Amino acid sequence: MHHRWLLLIACFWVILMLMVASKFITLTMKDPDGYGIKHGSLTILPEIDKMTVTEVKKLLMESQTTKSPLKDASHTELLHNERLELLRNMCRNGSISNRSHTVVSKFVLDRIFVSDKHKILFCQTPKVGNTQWKKVLMVLNGAFPSIEDIPENVVHDHEKNGLPRLSSYSESEIQERLNSYFKFFIVRDPFERLISAFKDKFVHNPRFEPWYKHDIAPVIIRKYRKNRTESRGGLLFQDFVRYLGDPNHRFLDLQFGDHIIHWVTYVELCAPCQIHYNVIGHHETLEEDAPYILREAGIDRLVSYPTIPPGITLYNKSKVEHYFSKVSKRDIKRLYARFEGDFKLFGYKEPTFLFA
Ligand SMILES: *[C@@H]1O[C@H](CO)[C@@H](O)[C@H](O)[C@H]1NC(C)=O
Ligand SMILES: *[C@@H]1O[C@H](CO)[C@@H](O)[C@H](O)[C@H]1NC(C)=O
Ligand SMILES: *[C@@H]1O[C@H](CO)[C@@H](O)[C@H](O)[C@H]1NC(C)=O
Ligand SMILES: *[C@@H]1O[C@H](CO)[C@@H](O)[C@H](O)[C@H]1NC(C)=O
Repeated sequence: MHHRWLLLIACFWVILMLMVASKFITLTMKDPDGYGIKHGSLTILPEIDKMTVTEVKKLLMESQTTKSPLKDASHTELLHNERLELLRNMCRNGSISNRSHTVVSKFVLDRIFVSDKHKILFCQTPKVGNTQWKKVLMVLNGAFPSIEDIPENVVHDHEKNGLPRLSSYSESEIQERLNSYFKFFIVRDPFERLISAFKDKFVHNPRFEPWYKHDIAPVIIRKYRKNRTESRGGLLFQDFVRYLGDPNHRFLDLQFGDHIIHWVTYVELCAPCQIHYNVIGHHETLEEDAPYILREAGIDRLVSYPTIPPGITLYNKSKVEHYFSKVSKRDIKRLYARFEGDFKLFGYKEPTFLFA
């Protein structure tokens, strides 16, 4: 790793020197390609894996206009490479990765949205700012001229939003896309995500999704409420945690259908050990990750990620403590056991402060 960056910096200097030289060379050679990079001596660069000559060139051009993009860019790339390496290592541990299934299930293919125009696959992980990414892809697919033009009710309407699911393709088309497209998804602290799902689906309960309160909550309460004399009507966070941590939760999951996407694990949603994603963004670092994803996908000139309101991406420990304060230690441990893969694969620290 270290190695590679030293090489890159070395190459950077070589190019810089060549630029100076080219000032004189172009006078006599009339190279249409600027610095002669394509056919010149710089084809000796295959050592820098994955970095094409055009990318080096782009980096170089950027370095002339901004302060020190090479340093920032290398920092970001390093961080993302480390994330992917961690994922690969953790995926080798069968007890957390569930890799026994090599075929990607229909449930996962349903979660992945496709932009054929720009060769991008995006796996949806609800409660992690996915609506914005769907809008970005809808604009890219040409269904709408800009993000502001997309009506809220159309974003999740898959008849109208011009965003096909990977499951709608034939088997060979699916394989082709999985093998060659740019693939990414976003994660956040697993417990914060569950709190967000709980609040959104069972507390705020928007008028247009009444089934969470009227159909799903009563079923969970009937099976998992501990205190039968508890008179409060709605689903409590304790009930929700007990359902999620139950090793036999699948029985209810089947009844709830696709609504479970709001609380099943990232491993179940996106199969990160079977599918080789190019980038895994973190909600906590979205300010840097969003532009990085757009750059890596080659679409940064075409679209930008909507403005992120300040503060909303930060991990809020006191919120997590608050929600779990009424949950028993045994239930928290069971919950952690189920979501351990999501913590470990993506580098989230075990929330030991909840077990103490
Ligand atoms: C695999 O993961 C389990 C659960 O986290 C852990 O107990 C075990 O030590 C891991 N095995 C290896 C080889 O890392
Ligand atoms: C492993 O994956 C299979 C198929 O996707 C699924 O049926 C099974 O429930 C998963 N197991 C766990 C522990 O996630
Ligand atoms: C059960 O709920 C009732 C009503 O909210 C409350 O008064 C009682 O203390 C609770 N019991 C336990 C053991 O939590
Ligand atoms: C963290 O969450 C608590 C409780 O939900 C809230 O009062 C507080 O403002 C949040 N802190 C930050 C920095 O967002």
